[in-house]
Amino acid sequence: MIFGSKSTIGLDIGSSYIKAVQVKDVKDGYELAMFDMIPTAPELIVDGAVIDSLRLVDFLKELRSKAKFKTKDCVISMSGHSSVIIKRITLPEMSEDELEESIRFEAEQYVPFDIDDVNIDFQILGPKEEPGQMDVILVAVKKDIINEFVTVVKDAGMNPVIVDVDAFALENMYEVNYEIQPEANTVLVNIGASTITLNILKGGISAFTRDSAIGGNIITEAIQKEFNVTYEDAEKLKFGESVEGVSSDEAMSIVYSASEDIFTEISRSIEYFRSTAVQEEINEVILCGGCALIRNFDEMLAERINVNVSVVQPFRNVRIPSKMDSAYIEEMAPLAAVATGLALRRHGDR
Ligand SMILES: Nc1ncnc2c1ncn2[C@@H]1O[C@H](COP(=O)(O)OP(=O)(O)OP(=O)(O)O)[C@@H](O)[C@H]1O
Ligand SMILES: [Mg+2]
Repeated sequence: MIFGSKSTIGLDIGSSYIKAVQVKDVKDGYELAMFDMIPTAPELIVDGAVIDSLRLVDFLKELRSKAKFKTKDCVISMSGHSSVIIKRITLPEMSEDELEESIRFEAEQYVPFDIDDVNIDFQILGPKEEPGQMDVILVAVKKDIINEFVTVVKDAGMNPVIVDVDAFALENMYEVNYEIQPEANTVLVNIGASTITLNILKGGISAFTRDSAIGGNIITEAIQKEFNVTYEDAEKLKFGESVEGVSSDEAMSIVYSASEDIFTEISRSIEYFRSTAVQEEINEVILCGGCALIRNFDEMLAERINVNVSVVQPFRNVRIPSKMDSAYIEEMAPLAAVATGLALRRHGDR
């Protein structure tokens, strides 16, 4: 994982949309230089791995010319429980250099893959209360998955300068846009088409992360099955539109019942976090990703897990210039949460 310094494009290659964001440093903060996205075809990326790289390259090229990318440098990210492992671990206190030497050895017991098959990175979070101990965040990503994405991005004529993970991109996006609550537990949850990424911040520092292999696709599939419609029509119905023979209201009842499995998954992860430490309250949930656009999804989730839920504002502290279509950008903003975190990567890198 290499770190760059120039203004780069945050490129979030999802299984249903590719999103690109570029942010400029201006005198008093940040300004949006670009936000664009295109839908891809189903089954190009499955379970976090590239299945059809040729077609994915074409979609990337299409976005690149549609959005008129002005730089080749980009930051990409990985997600998915079968390719990314993030663990918060406790180790004997040591220097960064010492840990660099021993991290592979330390990581072996936490990573369920062959240690030679993963790239490993870490961040020391600082000393613990018990003397001689420190907390470390360990990240392991499968090399072959990284290589697939890097190759696709290069074949599309881009230059990937950093490979990140979705959970940390969300955290980075949060840090730029929100005030850290020192006493609070905040859940960042990104619900995409096939993955839920959850990152629970305790006083602004990641305490627990989880990627689950479920997302908005299950809703699309439920609509397809119920009304016997195509994938495209099912997506329209999910977006609140009507199609021939099916009204939007009819579809919405299926949307809500199919969302239940997503709520259950989120609820389970939160309960697991609560159970690992005594008396952990969750103060708020910030909802990111395409599913945040489903009508009333935030309210339904809030009711289900009994926690305050708000829809993410990734451009809260990023000015949108007047020449851009700010109404459209604000509407689509939840889809840009990961890409924005990636675009802001050059600032305060870990
Ligand atoms: N306007 C909308 N209304 C309702 N749902 C929407 C809307 N726009 C997108 N979605 C849904 O959001 C999901 C796509 O979100 P997102 O782009 O965050 O996923 P992704 O990054 O492509 O997927 P993943 O990260 O799981 O690979 C799809 O399931 C899509 O149907
Ligand atoms: Mg995604």
